[in-house]
Amino acid sequence: MSDHQDSAKNTHRSPGYRLSAVGRQQVEDERLTLLEEIFDPLSRQRRALVQPGWRCLEVGAGRGSMARWLAQQVGEQGRVVATDVDTTYLERLTIPNLDIRRHNILSDPLDELGPGSFDLVCARLLLFWLAGNQENAIRRMVECLRPGGWLIDEDGDWGLVAPVDPAHLHYELYHRAWKNGDWWSVRGYDPTFGRKLPALFERCGLVNLRHKASASVVRSESPWGQWWRQSLEGIRASEQTDGSLTEERAKEYDALITPLNDPSCWLMTAPIHACWGQRNF
Ligand SMILES: C[S@@+](CC[C@H](N)C(=O)[O-])C[C@H]1O[C@@H](n2cnc3c(N)ncnc32)[C@H](O)[C@@H]1O
Repeated sequence: MSDHQDSAKNTHRSPGYRLSAVGRQQVEDERLTLLEEIFDPLSRQRRALVQPGWRCLEVGAGRGSMARWLAQQVGEQGRVVATDVDTTYLERLTIPNLDIRRHNILSDPLDELGPGSFDLVCARLLLFWLAGNQENAIRRMVECLRPGGWLIDEDGDWGLVAPVDPAHLHYELYHRAWKNGDWWSVRGYDPTFGRKLPALFERCGLVNLRHKASASVVRSESPWGQWWRQSLEGIRASEQTDGSLTEERAKEYDALITPLNDPSCWLMTAPIHACWGQRNF
């Protein structure tokens, strides 16, 4: 069975990616720029094992800041492949040792990438969106690794983002709409996905597993708070487009976004989990 047939068979119905840039290129470019500013410093530390001369694969690379950084680290003797279902932003990058490929990690043939050939495969803030297919995606990333190669993924417990001070004016309304993160479950996503990465890595046969998580409490007006606001606005726009934005949902968005426009509000960020695993020799 070819890669393509195999993955089509194993692709379960997924709620899919909700922040597509189609029809909102400029705002999504701004949101991803902020994402990179917030997450890149820690992601670079998480990927510090990369060596000059390595072959790396960045899956769902977005605007490509981490692919660009990996290309610097591997140097002239190394190579980086950056994939995404939408390569609009990646195509702006012209870096001699960086190849850009339009590729869906769930359904496109792995032969296009080079199975068994990568020293390092990375993904960030991608797997959460592939609810129902995360194990399939990890297995396909593992297939791309050479024996002994490393997979690194970073993703969040996105259901934990919420104002922290019960005395604050907007606390109750937010929490009533948020329902302990079930706001995500009703849309088909796992509010505590990030913490499951080590168990998923193990099921996919990876060894030498390591895990770290980090979170902070920030002001709404911080870059993280503003990025969260932009993300919620992006998801609201997608629901407007697909017709699922009911009157009740619109009110929930108001309850979630209002505190993010109030600089006096303190907010807990999503814990971001990083997980490392090695393909068996
Ligand atoms: C939240 S963005 C993160 C971008 C980048 N990883 C980063 O952290 O800067 C998720 C990215 O995954 C891409 N994506 C979504 N589903 C995908 C799939 N099935 N295969 C490959 N890329 C996908 C989206 O187009 C988007 O660029």
